[in-house]
Amino acid sequence: MSEVLVAAEGLARHYRLRGGRTLRALDGIDLGIGPRATLGLVGESGSGKSTLGRTLVGLQPPTLGRVRFEGRDAGATDPATLRRLRQQRQIIFQDPSGALNPRMTVGDTIVEHLRVQGWSRPEARARAAAVIERAGLQADFLPRYPHEISGGQRQRVVIARAISTDPAFIVADEPVSALDVSTRAQIMNLLRDLQAERGLTMLFISHDLSVVAHMCRDVAVMYLGRIVELAPRAALFRAPRHPYTAALLAAIPLLDPVRERARARTRLKGEPPDPSAVPRGCRFHPRCPRATDICLAVDPPTRALDPGHRFACHHPLDPA
Ligand SMILES: Nc1ncnc2c1ncn2[C@@H]1O[C@H](COP(=O)(O)OP(=O)(O)O)[C@@H](O)[C@H]1O
Ligand SMILES: [Mg+2]
Repeated sequence: MSEVLVAAEGLARHYRLRGGRTLRALDGIDLGIGPRATLGLVGESGSGKSTLGRTLVGLQPPTLGRVRFEGRDAGATDPATLRRLRQQRQIIFQDPSGALNPRMTVGDTIVEHLRVQGWSRPEARARAAAVIERAGLQADFLPRYPHEISGGQRQRVVIARAISTDPAFIVADEPVSALDVSTRAQIMNLLRDLQAERGLTMLFISHDLSVVAHMCRDVAVMYLGRIVELAPRAALFRAPRHPYTAALLAAIPLLDPVRERARARTRLKGEPPDPSAVPRGCRFHPRCPRATDICLAVDPPTRALDPGHRFACHHPLDPA
């Protein structure tokens, strides 16, 4: 792999459940995101997307493996490095209301965020005014409270706060899923413009493949705590190799109603996945139309046939 800004190496995150069972939210993630790259992360609810995002920005430690940032282990570090890592890695959550303190004005929210990172008050004030404007809000939003502004405006505040420390890496975790349809495109465009103009590296999480397609050069598909396929966007859409990716693609509604009706929907069969009971062998086998004996017994290794396109499947789909 060439240049990598953020990397996951054998990353696992386990949660201990009542009764002593272990839930493997992340179950061996290897990943490298290059500088200024945009990686989309898709998968059903519960596949571990948010856990991966939180672990990559250091909001929670991994159970096993490590996160690297600029080549260095992001886990074991001195206070000065930790502060720098906090500035460099930011996360935008799905629900902007939950991400903002209801008793703090927009301005104080951003100023406090910067103060904690060591900015002086006058510097923090100036910066808050600059980023709020860059996020598409006028300076007269600074004295307002979250309940006085719309959901889209709240997400702009969260975005302004995230860029205020000049981060290199941003995780956007379903950043438009909680917004009404009319404001989604605006927030997506804002994120895309910021990514380009600031040279941000982004992990863009969504349960919806068509959303990440607009934002991301590469797309990773997650299933039960693993990345089962990762490819450049065009290759993933044109020639998915993993049957799970193919099923996700088949679930995207077509815009043309005639073609949509004519299409045979390949529905995912079986139970929704449960990360506290990961199947033996290939974790996707209970729902896979191509599963054979080997899939019940052997966890498929990750293969990379074309550069940048890897997948973990014993019986991959033909690229033609
Ligand atoms: N703090 C926690 N304690 C126990 N289980 C958790 C915790 N956080 C997440 N999980 C579980 O980990 C799995 C992955 O969750 P999450 O990363 O939120 O998935 P996604 O974002 O893809 O929906 C889910 O089964 C979820 O219930
Ligand atoms: Mg999530």
